[in-house]
Amino acid sequence: MNKLENKVAIITGAASGIGLAAAQLFAAEGATVVLADKNVEDGKTAAAKINQNKNNALFIETDITLEAAAQNLIHETIKRFDGLDILYNNAGHEEYFKLHELSNDSWTRQIDTNLRGSFLTSKFALRHFMGKKQGVILNTSSIAGFMPTQDRPAYNAAKGGVIMLTKNIALEYGQYNVRANVICPGIVRTNMTAAGMDSDRKGGFKKASVFNRAGKAEEIAQAALFLVSDDASFVTGTSLQVDGGMNLGGFWL
Ligand SMILES: NC(=O)c1ccc[n+]([C@@H]2O[C@H](COP(=O)([O-])OP(=O)(O)OC[C@H]3O[C@@H](n4cnc5c(N)ncnc54)[C@H](O)[C@@H]3O)[C@@H](O)[C@H]2O)c1
Repeated sequence: MNKLENKVAIITGAASGIGLAAAQLFAAEGATVVLADKNVEDGKTAAAKINQNKNNALFIETDITLEAAAQNLIHETIKRFDGLDILYNNAGHEEYFKLHELSNDSWTRQIDTNLRGSFLTSKFALRHFMGKKQGVILNTSSIAGFMPTQDRPAYNAAKGGVIMLTKNIALEYGQYNVRANVICPGIVRTNMTAAGMDSDRKGGFKKASVFNRAGKAEEIAQAALFLVSDDASFVTGTSLQVDGGMNLGGFWL
């Protein structure tokens, strides 16, 4: 308990799924948590629920693909809470098309949400972190960031990019005592994956790990907690697979 006491953490995509589980866990561990999402209704509800316990959550409506919104998120957080310690870029989006059928709009939506959004928020957070010579960034890739998955060329490209973006941040900003890591979830039942998991088309989802089950959002959140906490003070530039062994291959998405 209290692994994040006195820390201010932003989590993007915190209105549902993994981001919501992380917001609840980080708040329980003592952090002041800013939930950022474009889904206003669910984001406000999530923050209100956390505030029933400790009153340490705030929702800020944010579309992370927009530079002004990303800048506002970082600046507003710093203004309200006198600083920022942890940026967890978790918001993501995927669409299923083969490349020859993929529209430019779909490509842009997926690259912008998964990759550009992490670039934008990190850019503004890093300026603050450099000034105070401390900070933590956790980005979100996927097993789809290092293994090709059927029907998701844009998602594969974006999530692969997130891994290298993270390594670049870790390399460049270590001198400012900034750590940057990336988490690669396997298959987790959330709004993003529920339809695919329930359809026969994605039959591979049934064998979602070597344990024959999907992961839980809470299991990803626990790994995220480790990476953003001081327990991981010597961990940077690392890509952590939290996927029930899916990275071993041997079965197909
Ligand atoms: N669920 C899985 O199996 C799985 C596997 C690997 C990686 N991931 C990644 O984990 C992250 C969380 O996904 P999840 O499964 O919890 O999905 P989810 O759909 O439950 O949550 C995603 C959240 O991101 C928000 N969001 C989407 N676009 C946004 C934008 N432009 N600005 C702000 N918020 C935006 C959504 O409103 C939603 O609340 C994503 O980056 C996803 O790619 C998920």
